[in-house]
Amino acid sequence: MCGIVGIVGTRSVALRLADALRRLEYRGYDSAGVATIHNGRLERRRAEGKLFNLEKALENEPLAGTIGIAHTRWATHGVPNVANAHPHFVDGVAVVHNGIIENFSELKDELLMDGAVFKSQTDTEVVAHLLARYIREGLNHRAAMLAMLNRISGAYALVVMFKEMPGTIMAARFGPPLAIGHGDGEMFLGSDAIALSSFTNEITYLLDGDCAIVTHGGAEIIDYRGLPLTRARQVSLATAYRVEKGNHRHFMEKEIYEQPEIISHALGHLIDFAQNTVKFRSDAIDFGAVSSLAISACGSAYLSGLVGKYWFERYARLPVEIDVASEFRYREVPLLPSQAALFISQSGETADTLASLRYCKDQGLPIGAIVNVPESTIARESDVVFPISAGPEVGVASTKAFTCQLAVLAALSIGAGRSRGTLSSEQEKVMVRHLAEMPRVMSEVLNTLQPQIEALSRHLSHSKDVLYLGRGTSFPLALEGALKLKEISYIHAEGYAAGELKHGPIALIDENMPVIVIAPHDRFFEKTVSNMQEVAARGGKIIFITDEKGAAASKLPTMATIALPNVDEIIAPMIFSLPIQLLAYQTAVFMGTDVDQPRNLAKSVTVE
Ligand code: G6P
Repeated sequence: MCGIVGIVGTRSVALRLADALRRLEYRGYDSAGVATIHNGRLERRRAEGKLFNLEKALENEPLAGTIGIAHTRWATHGVPNVANAHPHFVDGVAVVHNGIIENFSELKDELLMDGAVFKSQTDTEVVAHLLARYIREGLNHRAAMLAMLNRISGAYALVVMFKEMPGTIMAARFGPPLAIGHGDGEMFLGSDAIALSSFTNEITYLLDGDCAIVTHGGAEIIDYRGLPLTRARQVSLATAYRVEKGNHRHFMEKEIYEQPEIISHALGHLIDFAQNTVKFRSDAIDFGAVSSLAISACGSAYLSGLVGKYWFERYARLPVEIDVASEFRYREVPLLPSQAALFISQSGETADTLASLRYCKDQGLPIGAIVNVPESTIARESDVVFPISAGPEVGVASTKAFTCQLAVLAALSIGAGRSRGTLSSEQEKVMVRHLAEMPRVMSEVLNTLQPQIEALSRHLSHSKDVLYLGRGTSFPLALEGALKLKEISYIHAEGYAAGELKHGPIALIDENMPVIVIAPHDRFFEKTVSNMQEVAARGGKIIFITDEKGAAASKLPTMATIALPNVDEIIAPMIFSLPIQLLAYQTAVFMGTDVDQPRNLAKSVTVE
């Protein structure tokens, strides 16, 4: 979602700001803008669409100035157009914002009564008007900032410049992340350390309720009453290198093909491959003693958690309560301190997941986080972090983060099984050996599948609707398959538990409806094949994703059968994710969609 950058510099900033915005592109956006102060004038360039358009605008009409702020906008209030793009200007005040000002319409009414003229449909503009009003009323800039912060409610990362203060940027955080970067005579602000990585790796993260006044000399951090706060300065590990696509057509393709290599990084933190044991021990969460687990997440991260539920319950006999975070946070779930909570998030910044975490923390539960970004808010607010170490994931549709989350959940559930005495040391060794096979099997699958996937995807690209079916851990994979396809190809797709077929979706089946059945030759195989029979009897076109044993065992006519290598149940979800990802990717390529940045979607969802 929206990305923010600011520089209090000693040399020209406009192009450096635009370059830093590129590093935030992965978050998703639909317009962008830059503002600077030069010779006592506040000026901006804004453009709808991709950053290329903003760069062109800057090329046609360059912006001078050594202080500036910049923004990529993911539309919430108001369509994506130039007028709604940030920075918003009102009487010498410039504002960029990530989040939602929840009381904006009430504030807007008040400001309109006061004679304010609004130039955009955004909630952000009320912030600029409030600041301008307080300054008009005689408050100094700092007091105006605090007065404004005490009036607004909602979730926001705000960065503000005043024409009359050409050496200062002010900022505030309540919800979405915001970091200060300490440079050599220059200071920076950014939505995350990646945005600042080409400037500095010395970072101070703002916490909720912090206001920062940033000048060449450093950053003063205060609360909304103006009282001083101390925030640690730390060295960020975010890489300064811009992530490149290499030989791949899209980041998503690159990220799919990276999986064999990086899945072992994910496992490396938790597995001792020499001893074939799970080596993780944590004082924060004692899986041997907890009464149950609460898992919450959004999107693909939620679906990896759903696979985790099957594993924790089966291998560790540990009951799991799981829900999407947007529901979990408001359900008023009764929880006990004897339980533990796990949050799964690639970005570590998803607003609903963070709110669920805070709910569980308030109830006294120990908190674990499975995250990709180790410095993220979710990681920082957890008692124990299980990193997935997948490296930056740029494609909006999650691929490598999903399988790495699965790998970590698999290892944790085996570890929990050992701690609870439900798995023997011999079983642990066997399962860990299977996990260790994963990179090799993944490579084998990725190297052989492409021609078949291409043919099938060409067919899928002509479909209007696609149904995915699975049982057991293949049920969350069916949901993930449908999610992936709809996200990037815009084809309507639904995932169902195969056993639910008769309770509704069977009514949709005809000769035009591809049905993708995910069924390794496991204990559910026969039952799923019966469901396939029901699809076949109604003329449905079956794409059967199974393993060699399953392909040999089923005599049913299918449109296509993808036969993966026979693998153990513990690694099947990671291996079966690969054809699902490739099918969605290749179909989207045939349809010519914007695979890495599909319409309307954001990589990091920092508002509700
Ligand atoms: C967005 C992304 C998904 C992701 C979800 C949760 O919807 O497009 O790929 O699964 O957010 O994000 P998180 O960063 O918490 O994993």
